[in-house]
Amino acid sequence: MRVSFEVNGSAETVDDVWEGESLLYMLRERMGLPGSKNACEQGECGSCTVYLDGTPVCSCLVAAGQAHGCSVRTVEGLASGDRLDPMQQAFVEAGAVQCGFCTPGLIVQAHDLIERVPDPSDAEIREALAGNLCRCTGYEKILDAVRLAAERKAAAK
Ligand code: FES
Ligand code: FES
Repeated sequence: MRVSFEVNGSAETVDDVWEGESLLYMLRERMGLPGSKNACEQGECGSCTVYLDGTPVCSCLVAAGQAHGCSVRTVEGLASGDRLDPMQQAFVEAGAVQCGFCTPGLIVQAHDLIERVPDPSDAEIREALAGNLCRCTGYEKILDAVRLAAERKAAAK
């Protein structure tokens, strides 16, 4: 099967995609985009979160063929060249990254949150990130990172 779609702003075509292949597999193994992580492959951990037509999804649960004609944005696509997205920068500065396995998915999900809710409460942050599991940080630094990115975004207006 041939899948044509947009990835991080570029039109892409991938051939010989198997019907049972996931979007996550296609991105990582066929397209050289290893930012989205494969931790559970069951929709439980959120480490594979990408935007699909503007909505965060677990890419391990999306068939690659479902992306045909769609727009996908991965954690790699949040940065502008060498300049990190403010959410990526906030994760670095707040010390919210330890092993880093959960980080790409958390960043995409948190990026979406502050696009929708510019000044989220702690409860809103926790609810938005409830599907993203982290085994290392205890989550406090992650909350700090999201608050920092939201504050900076508000200050930049
Ligand atoms: S790898 Fe997709 S939710 Fe865990
Ligand atoms: S930093 Fe290791 S799982 Fe989150």
